[in-house]
Amino acid sequence: MPRERLSVVVTRRLPEAVETRLSELFNVRLREDDAPMTREELTAAVRDADILVPTLNDTIDAGLLARAGDKLKLIANYGAGIDHIDIATARQRGILVSNTPGVLTDDTADMTMALILAVTRRLPEGMAVMQKGDWAGWAPTAFLGGRVGGRRLGILGMGRIGQAVARRAAVFGMQVHYHNRKRVHAAIEEDLQATYWESLDQMVARMDVISINCPSTPSTFHLMNARRLKLMKPSAVIVNTSRGEVIDENALTRMIRAGEIAGAGLDVYEHGTAVNPRLRQLPNVVLLPHMGSATIEGRIEMGEKVIINIKTFADGHRPPDQVVPAML
Ligand code: DGY
Repeated sequence: MPRERLSVVVTRRLPEAVETRLSELFNVRLREDDAPMTREELTAAVRDADILVPTLNDTIDAGLLARAGDKLKLIANYGAGIDHIDIATARQRGILVSNTPGVLTDDTADMTMALILAVTRRLPEGMAVMQKGDWAGWAPTAFLGGRVGGRRLGILGMGRIGQAVARRAAVFGMQVHYHNRKRVHAAIEEDLQATYWESLDQMVARMDVISINCPSTPSTFHLMNARRLKLMKPSAVIVNTSRGEVIDENALTRMIRAGEIAGAGLDVYEHGTAVNPRLRQLPNVVLLPHMGSATIEGRIEMGEKVIINIKTFADGHRPPDQVVPAML
């Protein structure tokens, strides 16, 4: 007798190719409109599904998990970051969690470089002049930015994405420095020509560019708080393609306005879409709508990872990208 197909609920629209493949393989409920699910919809989803495929927009906390049905056995997150999921509670309830690491590394690192270049070379100011039709022609002193080559880049978080940023930055002639919870293997350090700083304070005080590439966890919350931001050189800039909670956004805004930090390139924000309005008014700040991993190739590969995680689980094995609390 054929086995009953697992019921899978997907909380957001995914690229068409991914939705098609999911439908071929599983008894899947896809999202019709592209708004995030309401709490009620999410509650119904965890109550009814064998497997939930959420995204970073869905808060899967202890309260929601308490209302999950006995059937729910896997949360196959469509995304690498899992700070929106209470992994420990899921585990206590016997629910596995998987994510999609690796496939968005290069795209996110590319976007980090794009932000570094955009801020240091003043791209938004140049674009604004062109869009307004105000360009008066080339001038020796117009739009002078800083050369990225030779600048010191301090990477906060030397995981996959941090290392991919380091590789790119070296090609641009930047000097690579990093701080990480654990020092990376000597061979990786040597390959990346990266200098390790045990003291984040000391690194921050000496860098021209700071790049945030660590995940959001309780211990990285406001790692760049007002005190630490104050250690930055007034000529330095900061970029963040990881999670907004790592930087105290209000303190950063105040300091850029006061000229104590030269600029910022942000793809993520402390309070989601509620971006500090003052940040939006600053010419030396480049703001993007969390699009670091937004390539069609990356998004399809994320879907493929979700499918492999679900299939492996359905075949009675551990999903290859299972997240366990010890990894956090
Ligand atoms: C993730 O997968 O967590 C990324 O932030 C999406 O861009």
